[in-house]
Amino acid sequence: MEFRDLKRQYQYLKNKMDISVQEVIEKTNFIQGNQVSELETTLADYTGMKHCISCANGTDALQLALMAWNVGPGDAVFVPDFTFFSSGEVVAAVGAVPVFVDVEHDTYNMDCDSLERLVKKTAATGKLVPKVIISVDLFGQPADYKKLKMIASKYQMFVLEDAAQGFGGRIDKRPACTFGDISTTSFFPAKPFGCYGDGGAIFTNHDEWANLLRSYRVHGKGRSKYDNVRIGMNSRLDTLQAAVLLTKFPVFVEEELEWEQNIAKMYTEQLRDYVKTPNVKEGFYSSWAQYTIQLADKVMRDGLQIYLKEHGIPSAVYYPKPMHRQEAFCNNYYDDNDYPVTNRLSEIVLSLPFHPYMREAEIKQVSEIIIEYVKR
Ligand SMILES: Cc1ncc(COP(=O)(O)O)c(C=O)c1O
Repeated sequence: MEFRDLKRQYQYLKNKMDISVQEVIEKTNFIQGNQVSELETTLADYTGMKHCISCANGTDALQLALMAWNVGPGDAVFVPDFTFFSSGEVVAAVGAVPVFVDVEHDTYNMDCDSLERLVKKTAATGKLVPKVIISVDLFGQPADYKKLKMIASKYQMFVLEDAAQGFGGRIDKRPACTFGDISTTSFFPAKPFGCYGDGGAIFTNHDEWANLLRSYRVHGKGRSKYDNVRIGMNSRLDTLQAAVLLTKFPVFVEEELEWEQNIAKMYTEQLRDYVKTPNVKEGFYSSWAQYTIQLADKVMRDGLQIYLKEHGIPSAVYYPKPMHRQEAFCNNYYDDNDYPVTNRLSEIVLSLPFHPYMREAEIKQVSEIIIEYVKR
């Protein structure tokens, strides 16, 4: 069994995919081919955002957004403590300080009480200016933007929505990638909407920021690519990846998202009496980047992972180390007591095999082994 079976997905899309990829190879328009702008238009239309700016990956997407806002030394950027490294890495990369924030126990997204407390605490030191909140839509479920935006406007901060895992999710009818002042996503292959390599995109309604992002993305270009007006990056999306995404897009929105809802429902029905299953808030819709359960303690979690492996079932721990404990951030001071929830989650979470092409028998097999283990 695969954790996320991309081979099965390829078989389903094979006929159309092979034609799309072949077309790029034959035309040799590998960089900035027409598929790139077609994808940007498709995704802007889907989200209803004015600008979609594709780029090389989800990490660059975040960094480019911070560059467009001129975030740098002296600025504090608030980031969930329970997320992939990139969400905090980009802050340090532009010279600002990541201030990690604890998360909600059941949705894994930023906890607004912890956020406000840490914003006040940071401002009170007088050393850093609270500037941006990077809200992560973890495991596919959007963060609680109603509350987050109240805090952002109270303290005059921007919201940067990191929807690397959240593309396809929504709150009521409003889709992910529309909640931030700038929003970003990743097309890493295992993401809900993934390509066949690295890729990312940035969304905003703000014309000036969009122009800056388009410039920073290609070496700070001015009027032409040999007129360089600022220091930027080389962060274009390959034409091949755009072609792959265009081919996947109708299947993703019309079929895969719905199949994933059913798979999550089946898992939850089987497992909810034995382990803590995911909680999707009322009115929220997850794109199920991960299906993550919680065990009673670390011994149970680690034991279950071994037990699953013995039965040929892969699983993963997202994330085994809170951000504030990462050695890369050891130059900043973090109080371990600020992160009781993340500290605990890192010991008890386990993500199960999950993808739109999973069969009912496979879901049953995984569930039965988990139940067997928990009952022992
Ligand atoms: C929450 C989050 N943010 C950012 C990223 C970075 O995306 P990429 O791998 O495309 O650089 C990831 C990818 O794993 C992620 O999960």
